Amino acid sequence: MSLSDSYWQGNFCVEISPVPNTIIIFGASGDLTFRKLMPALFNLFRRNLFHENSRVVGCARTVMKTEEYRNRLREKMVENVEDPAELDRFLSKVCYMHGGYQDQATYSNLEHLLEKLEKGQDPVPNRTFYLATPASLYGEIVPLLGRYGITEERNADGWRHVVLEKPFGHDVKSARALDMLLHETLSERQIYRIDHYLGKETVQNIMMLRFANVLFEPTWSNKYIDNVQITVAEDIGIGARAGYYEKAGLLRDMFQNHMLEMLALVAMEMPSSFDANSVRDEKLKLINSIRPFPIKHLSKYMIRGQYTADGDMKGYCEEDGVKPDSTTETFVAAKVMIDNWRWHGVPFYLRSGKRLKRKVSEIAIQFKKVPYSIFQPIAAKDMQPDVLVLTVQPDEGMSLGIQAKKPGPKLCMGNLTLDFKYNSIFGGQSHDAYERLLLDAMLGDQTLFIRSDVIAASWRLLTPVLEAWDSFDAHNLDCPCHLRKYKAGSWGPADAAAIPKSDGFKWRNL
Ligand code: BG6
Repeated sequence: MSLSDSYWQGNFCVEISPVPNTIIIFGASGDLTFRKLMPALFNLFRRNLFHENSRVVGCARTVMKTEEYRNRLREKMVENVEDPAELDRFLSKVCYMHGGYQDQATYSNLEHLLEKLEKGQDPVPNRTFYLATPASLYGEIVPLLGRYGITEERNADGWRHVVLEKPFGHDVKSARALDMLLHETLSERQIYRIDHYLGKETVQNIMMLRFANVLFEPTWSNKYIDNVQITVAEDIGIGARAGYYEKAGLLRDMFQNHMLEMLALVAMEMPSSFDANSVRDEKLKLINSIRPFPIKHLSKYMIRGQYTADGDMKGYCEEDGVKPDSTTETFVAAKVMIDNWRWHGVPFYLRSGKRLKRKVSEIAIQFKKVPYSIFQPIAAKDMQPDVLVLTVQPDEGMSLGIQAKKPGPKLCMGNLTLDFKYNSIFGGQSHDAYERLLLDAMLGDQTLFIRSDVIAASWRLLTPVLEAWDSFDAHNLDCPCHLRKYKAGSWGPADAAAIPKSDGFKWRNL
């Protein structure tokens, strides 16, 4: 019996039958395609989840022939591949065409190429477009795809889906404008807005944990939960992304999507079924139940920070492409309150930052202390509260800290951690988030993709904060909402502690 068999009994794995797809990647010579998308597609190919009639068409501005494109991919991917011949079999399904995204000829060439590739195939492959380009180009690419009929769904043909990377706007207004523009060409059913956190194994596990067990749900409310903490800490800085990051900042880059999506999964009600719209209906309801941040007392609910140099680590304002007096935030800590019966009075503390001490993302559910101890002289106040920690990365898993009898005399009690790590059970078998999401896009399953009304709700919540921050002088230390500086390699601004402290709580040690 293998280690994984001794942990897992019963195996209800719904078999997946791959369906034929032509995957058209715009931005095919970019970093995302080389680092994430192609390796993910190759892994699906290795696992027999890439239909034999599926093909990949890379499209980008760089002039090169298919052979050169395949060589570049091979060079980049081969070192992580066990069987180079298998990689070559995958690459034989990849072709490349160059063209400007604003250039009409690109789209007529693309349509001809697709017709040639799909000719005589039965069934006709679906088309999955992946826009791995800057979001500023969506407004050029999508209407032109529409004008040339490339995304039009005709009865006998397969579907036409378009996968988009964030950012989906930068505030309520721009998100609405982007949405209207997309909907001129595509129906919501055709739009797959990606949030790669939703493809992470532990994040997906939240729903199984909550809704496939009876153990947690009865305690999942203000009756038994004291507070919830969601942390996404990164040790890296902004690298070469100043152009994007200067306009975004952490609230837009991490909160509007990853943080709020995780919060919604932890706090939402049980969907009526596990289909895309039922799940997304519940997320929407939850995000709409978040109490608006009180702008007058904003600093009690949310603080922003920016890293400064330490040792050989540059400060944010010294990074290439960043203005020396930039007020872009690289850290945010927030307290979120949810106005519904289940969560009334339970603070959700969220924090995320760049250039922190180490990379770690986790969701910690801290239960209340027992109201009274029969184990005198051990008092209730001296017992640790139970805590359930879902580690999203780097060591994916979950642990449950409980009080238990320690071996020894009658009254020996301690905090016991029941610990599960995906890696120690399944080794390197875990699937990359992009692999999972690309597979779902190719199968036409929107559950893990974000619906437009959910995006709009998250912008409605965060736009007033962004506007308030813009209106305050970030460098004025007398202003409660000023930009707090923190040293690169630390755990963020010291003032972040005040957010849970005002409720009598502390951030968890990471
Ligand atoms: C992206 C953000 O969405 O997520 C990046 O734009 C961030 O700034 C990244 O670094 C974090 O993803 P992960 O999977 O490394 O935690």
